[in-house]
Amino acid sequence: MKYGHFDDKNREYVINHYETPLPWINYLGSDSFFALLSNTAGGYAFYKDAKLRRLTRYRYNNLPLDQDGFHIYIKDKNTIWNPGWQPTRTKLDHYECRHGLGYSVITGSKNKVEARQELYVPKNDNILLMRVTLTNKDQKEKELDLFSFVEFCLWDAQDDTTNFQRNYSTGEVEVEGSAIYHKTEFRERRNHYAVFFANREISSFDTSRDQFMGVYGSPASPNAVLKGKCSDTIAHGWQPIGAHHIHVSLKADESYDVIFALAYVEVPENQKFIAPGIINKKPAHELLKKYDTDRKFDKGLRDLKKFWNDLLSGFEVRTASEEVNRMVNIWNAYQCMVTFNMSRSASYYESGIGRGMGFRDSCQDLLGFVHMIPERARERILDIAATQKPDGGAYHQYQPLTKKGNSDIGGGFNDDPLWLIACTDAYIRETGDWDILKEKVDFDNDPKSAKPLLEHLNRSFNYTLNNLGPHKLPLIGRADWNDCLNLNCFSRYPGESFQITGPSEGPVAESVFIAGMFVKYGKAYANILNHLGKSKEAKKVTKAFTDMEKAILKDGWDGKWFLRAYDAFGKKVGSKYNDEGKIFIEPQGMCIMAGVGVKTGEAQKALDSVAERLETKYGIVLQNPAYSTYKLNLGEISSYPPGYKENAGIFCHNNPWIVFAETIMGHGNRAFSLYKKTCPAFLEEISEIHRTEPYVYCQMVAGKDAPTFGEGKNSWLTGTAAWTFTVLTQGILGIQPDYDGLRIDPCIPDHVKEYKVNRLFRGTMYHITVKNPDGSEKGVKKVLLNGKELKSDIIPVTDKKEVNVEIIM
Ligand code: BGC
Repeated sequence: MKYGHFDDKNREYVINHYETPLPWINYLGSDSFFALLSNTAGGYAFYKDAKLRRLTRYRYNNLPLDQDGFHIYIKDKNTIWNPGWQPTRTKLDHYECRHGLGYSVITGSKNKVEARQELYVPKNDNILLMRVTLTNKDQKEKELDLFSFVEFCLWDAQDDTTNFQRNYSTGEVEVEGSAIYHKTEFRERRNHYAVFFANREISSFDTSRDQFMGVYGSPASPNAVLKGKCSDTIAHGWQPIGAHHIHVSLKADESYDVIFALAYVEVPENQKFIAPGIINKKPAHELLKKYDTDRKFDKGLRDLKKFWNDLLSGFEVRTASEEVNRMVNIWNAYQCMVTFNMSRSASYYESGIGRGMGFRDSCQDLLGFVHMIPERARERILDIAATQKPDGGAYHQYQPLTKKGNSDIGGGFNDDPLWLIACTDAYIRETGDWDILKEKVDFDNDPKSAKPLLEHLNRSFNYTLNNLGPHKLPLIGRADWNDCLNLNCFSRYPGESFQITGPSEGPVAESVFIAGMFVKYGKAYANILNHLGKSKEAKKVTKAFTDMEKAILKDGWDGKWFLRAYDAFGKKVGSKYNDEGKIFIEPQGMCIMAGVGVKTGEAQKALDSVAERLETKYGIVLQNPAYSTYKLNLGEISSYPPGYKENAGIFCHNNPWIVFAETIMGHGNRAFSLYKKTCPAFLEEISEIHRTEPYVYCQMVAGKDAPTFGEGKNSWLTGTAAWTFTVLTQGILGIQPDYDGLRIDPCIPDHVKEYKVNRLFRGTMYHITVKNPDGSEKGVKKVLLNGKELKSDIIPVTDKKEVNVEIIM
């Protein structure tokens, strides 16, 4: 069943049924100030860090679901309702939510009144804007009461939900006209406050939740709304809120609008107060003034739309598949930008108080956004590299505010360092900025240890070589890409971290997946060295990854597929000799992407085994058969019930690796049919099964062993976004940035006759037409640049503004 539809022209997803299978959210904000917003106006706002600077509260596993957010209430005689349906859940006569790029519009109608709620965060300002327009569609005059409501978080989201003995006494507010200032802890060490503002005169307000809701009240029927007015309360401790009330009389066909704004404001330390206890509101006044009229609101929204249009117009495809077009041109690219902004911090599945930035996660995310924001990708690479340890190892996570490695989790995830080569290589291919390799970057954030970035790549590469096991395959450490395959941890007690229990430096457990990575990114590293004229070093590197390739084919091959690992006792994992977990997806994808066994036949056998044993109608499961019991020597993977997460769930992140592998083998039909299985735009029709948003990828879909086969979970913040974007644009459509130009090497279904791509690359717009008259799946016969045939398959970099390219397959 569908709950809405794509409006590609406006780059929006339009939801028509408010009771979606799960809240379907959007992200507002693109710089420092962010809000999550669901289709029923649930969500929360924060400044930079969802844990430490949370502006509004959100209760994750609440019942009913998704009650906290940016709701407005309307009282029309005895009916109270919300345009987004929640929290009153009054049945609406009409409802629509449009999630666009960085903005959302929710419209609801009840008893001939239409209420429209437009929300966005403008570029470069720390403010969430919400314009509410009420229209009387009746022939009679209407007397309406409009209420806004936000519940402030006392800044530190973790403390806010745990330390009640303190924080029930700290809450403070000030009210000035229509502006409600939340100033908890401003009296002491904070120099920031929040303000919730209305650009119209208000009839009453509340700042005490107890008064607005009632101590035992409910968001579904707040006391103040039932009463038709607030009580002008000033909160002292407990739960400070911001609620405005405006009485509105509307003649037939008349409209009324008001702009609400929730802003975050910092004040210089020595200018915090204008009188004892009275906060300095000047910076707030200046900010609010920027958006206090319809004209200014509309301009901010236009600027935001222009920003997104400009950003996305650098990569536009026109194929016969509207699903493909909307993924490349709109949603997959948008999701990549959201993962850039959020990493894994704040979603409806990531609480915002959990993990910092992942080393491997951030490196992989970069593959999906480097073409849109190369300068910020550069900065990100240097930030990540600066957390690298001197021995080439990596902290598994780092904190976004301090940009320092997180020592609670530490390192020993032995795939991490190699991802630094992956992202640097992608960055250089995209930009041609070889100078980044000369940038001096700290090790472990110690300026005394700074060395050029190239040296960081060298240490990443050598880290694997310095940590080889008995079969000359890389030691796995705490885990590789699969955080849940914990071969050295042996965790026995509930609550222990699967990742950091036990020693990380097990001397025996080896990963065939890291071996594949080492070959793939070793090749990239050797290319880089050759390009820099360092052929002696390049030779050494080539020898090392060639030896690794041999080691994989000797001891990492199981007969019909690549083995997954050797455990701490030297026993095989992911082998025909195992009863469960016989075959894993990751080494098949990574080894073939690295080219291992492509010429000698193993790669094809491995792909056949994937098709036979792992593929399902909703995608490829991570391993098979699922583990039915907990295994001490395997760790977290076996802690999940069969079919969920890493225990044989469909992990969307590594499905594209198999798609890539199929493109390497030249199988365009297979590649595209696998691509479609996890692609949300193709799953719209089964939203009641898939449940998560049909416009973005989720991390995991329940596998065939799960009772809820096909059900998605953990949407938005996943490395899936980057890999699916990369496989579709580079693997299938074949637009591959290379060091000296753009290579175009499609691998497509044979029925595709033609498609067009506009691709901005190093300042030139490439207008590309791919023609496939003979119905091939792969292979380029002719490359024409501005009508002239090229000898090479690489279209060289040029200083022209635009060029026309024709590819004949
Ligand atoms: C983590 C990734 C990891 C993946 C598979 C995700 O939750 O963010 O770093 O590769 O799970 O375990």
